[in-house]
Amino acid sequence: LLCWLVLLGSCCFAAETNSPISAPLPNPLTMRNGTPVTSKEQWFHDRRPELKSMFQFFMYGSMPPNPGQTNFVVERVYKNFFDGKATKKEVTISFSSDTNSPKITLLVITPNHPPKKASQRLSGNIGTGSEQLIARAPHDARYPIFLGINFNGNDTLLTDTTTALPNGWVSKNRRGSVNHEANEKGRGSQVDMWAIEQTIDRGYAFASFYCGDVEPDDPNATTGIRTWLNLKNETGALAAWAWGVSRAVDYLVTDRNIDPKRIAVVGHSRLGKAALLAGAFDDRIALTIPLQAGCGGSAPSRGTIGESVKAITKEFPHWFNDEFKKYADQPEALPFDQNCLVAMCAPRPVLFAAAAEDTWANPAGQFEVLRAASPVFFFTGGEGLAAKQMPETNHLISSQLGYYIRPGKHSMTKDDWKFFLDYADKQMR
Ligand code: GCU
Repeated sequence: LLCWLVLLGSCCFAAETNSPISAPLPNPLTMRNGTPVTSKEQWFHDRRPELKSMFQFFMYGSMPPNPGQTNFVVERVYKNFFDGKATKKEVTISFSSDTNSPKITLLVITPNHPPKKASQRLSGNIGTGSEQLIARAPHDARYPIFLGINFNGNDTLLTDTTTALPNGWVSKNRRGSVNHEANEKGRGSQVDMWAIEQTIDRGYAFASFYCGDVEPDDPNATTGIRTWLNLKNETGALAAWAWGVSRAVDYLVTDRNIDPKRIAVVGHSRLGKAALLAGAFDDRIALTIPLQAGCGGSAPSRGTIGESVKAITKEFPHWFNDEFKKYADQPEALPFDQNCLVAMCAPRPVLFAAAAEDTWANPAGQFEVLRAASPVFFFTGGEGLAAKQMPETNHLISSQLGYYIRPGKHSMTKDDWKFFLDYADKQMR
């Protein structure tokens, strides 16, 4: 009997220590003062706004205000991009006549073939090039779109020589950069992370902007929206990038070739954190895909695997506000966890994308985040996460809260894009 008890005890202990979370995640359907949320109206009227202000106060800092004035200038248009399959343009988004104000250059690529019906998109194959581009689309055809935030400049996504290089500060990770300035050596250096032509073949438009157009990823930044609006003490870089996503959406909803009700936002890693924040705050975003976003994004702050609040706030202090640093040793004291951020997207779908070797981003903890966000999706009339356990690798859970884990490392690849496209076919018709 004693042996059994010891064995049982050690099993329970093992189960607890293997848990990817250190404490249960806070219930998104309980107000901060303990009152339960009992109606959809109460969720949208009271609890969601409460969470919005708490995420700003405790973690990301305040979102920069919406600009009074936003101007869009379509700079360069190439109608025969990708051998005639698509039209490429670059749009400058500016917020002021002040020449020091940041400007976003948005790359927008739209198919030239007529929009597909949902059933046609479902049967599409990535990368086969098998689409028959017989008819050219009517000039006002509208496409669903993927909007991705990029790390090193729009020109790194494409091999053509016409896409503009970034003007301002770039990271030393940009290929060939000298003194944080971009040059031609970086062009095309991140083509493998993206699947733009395949996205077009599957009937979607594509847009992207360089995160540094909004805010340099630099604790000592002297340019960017935080400097320009004098927000450095109250706004973190993740909030600035998420704000940039919303400014890109400001443009996209005015573009007559984009379906404003079907805008999906994608980001990898730190930019996945920003994508999720944007999806949670901006209702115009129809689908959100934070890829391997990890701590401060899709992984729980109460995580036991991989990056901790302590590690991230030490290494990347400029991503968050100062308040968050107070929780470095006590994430359990935060009045929310990242499941509440996902819940703020409800009923709009969210896909979490993980990689098996990327334990730094706590894939199992990410699954717990989805499970603990799911009740809000039921509550707002959806199906939430249609799985009780983490799936095996390469299996897409394509419910309103979606998840997959693929083999391999921390990276965005064309394989990931196949999952994104399949998921969007299902959730963003
Ligand atoms: C670091 C950081 C992560 C982040 C990642 C990335 O690993 O610790 O939080 O997601 O960089 O952006 O690639």
